[in-house]
Amino acid sequence: MADPKKLFIKTYGCQMNVYDSERMAEAMGADGYVLSDSAEDADMVLLNTCHIREKAGEKLYSDLGRLKKLKAARPDVKIGVAGCVAQAEGAEIMRRSPIVDLVVGPQSYHRLPEMARAGTPQVDTDFPLEDKFDLLPERKATRGPMAFLTVQEGCDKFCAFCVVPYTRGAEVSRDPQRILTEARGLVEKGVRDLTLLGQNVNAYHGDGWTLSKLIRELAKVDGLERIRYTTSHPNDMEDDLIAAHGDEPKLMPYLHLPVQSGSDRILKAMNRKHTAESYLRLIERIRAVRPDILLSSDFIVGFPGETDQDFEDTLSLIRAVNYGAAYSFKYSARPGTPAAEKPEIDGDVADARLQILQALITEQQRGLQQAMVGREVGVLYEKAGREAGQMIGKSDHLHAVFVNDPHGRVGEMVRVRILASSSNSLAGARISE
Ligand code: 5AD
Ligand code: SF4
Repeated sequence: MADPKKLFIKTYGCQMNVYDSERMAEAMGADGYVLSDSAEDADMVLLNTCHIREKAGEKLYSDLGRLKKLKAARPDVKIGVAGCVAQAEGAEIMRRSPIVDLVVGPQSYHRLPEMARAGTPQVDTDFPLEDKFDLLPERKATRGPMAFLTVQEGCDKFCAFCVVPYTRGAEVSRDPQRILTEARGLVEKGVRDLTLLGQNVNAYHGDGWTLSKLIRELAKVDGLERIRYTTSHPNDMEDDLIAAHGDEPKLMPYLHLPVQSGSDRILKAMNRKHTAESYLRLIERIRAVRPDILLSSDFIVGFPGETDQDFEDTLSLIRAVNYGAAYSFKYSARPGTPAAEKPEIDGDVADARLQILQALITEQQRGLQQAMVGREVGVLYEKAGREAGQMIGKSDHLHAVFVNDPHGRVGEMVRVRILASSSNSLAGARISE
């Protein structure tokens, strides 16, 4: 038998891209490709790209520049570009970088194998009527006890800064029965902690189900211990979903709920359709049913027109919430979005604001992590640590936890007493039953 062909995939950006890359690998696996750790000896190199900010998009072209040598030495190597830059730029990518053989958008990557087989340059950035998930092979062995599962894609919110509605398209929810089947398959392969993915996951409405109904049905799957979901929009946090945080034990006490800004003026300009006050009230309601929930958010600083006062309002909101984690970004104008038409603010001012905001978030994150010391938490072991007998896992609150446990196994759920907190992890001792 001939040696299998090797596929190297580089994934940029969000968790949905991580999920898509796995599914792409499985699709190519059906065509005889196995995953490789390096581009050097690969028969095909696939770059699964992100377009959310300018820097993310530019990474593609610097990587393609580096791949030129490889293509010159081995012209048979297929170079593919997938993901949101592929969707946004299409054939333009091939004009900028002639080494690229195929360009495939996020909604058509089930066609990857046939595109790779073709002898001519291939571009597919359609939003086809058929569902790619129906056409992809079944899920393969997973990489560990934590997995992602895409349940919803696309976004109809049109925040003024965001390319997602253009690159991922309109909001589409997958059929709940297929999601349940995929989830059961993942659990059979050892998954214990499942994160439901969607650009607007709490707007899920597959076959008339809400996200909370989907969560409650998933919670009935034996062997699935933990359920999470990301990313959510504040305006789609319906009562039944909030209630699930209070009474569904498998739904983990961690919620990523982006607010972007704490200034009503900026929120309006961003077309967010909520206010700082309505967001804070929502957090209060969630905390009322799940007091220990750890909150995370996304922030953009330096949005066009942002004044010192607007930025102060964002800091006030952060102080009012007390976040356990957050992602924060300097505004980056994206071609085709409404905000890109507006004059930008001074880049140095935005940089300085980002530093101040990140310092505040880091302080809060460390504070909440430190507060775990002395507490007993559930930990799911993900891998062995570097030191002998050490296991590394994730707590219910998604903190990384180091445990000295020579008999620990990957995939095991254990109770741990937290003993110490360092900059970005906890250490604890297993509580024996
Ligand atoms: N500039 C900066 N950050 C952005 N995000 C989305 N678009 C932009 C942009 N143009 C951030 C938002 C979003 C996260 C995924 O990326 O905070 O929630
Ligand atoms: Fe982008 Fe999220 Fe706004 Fe949708 S809700 S437009 S994905 S930032």
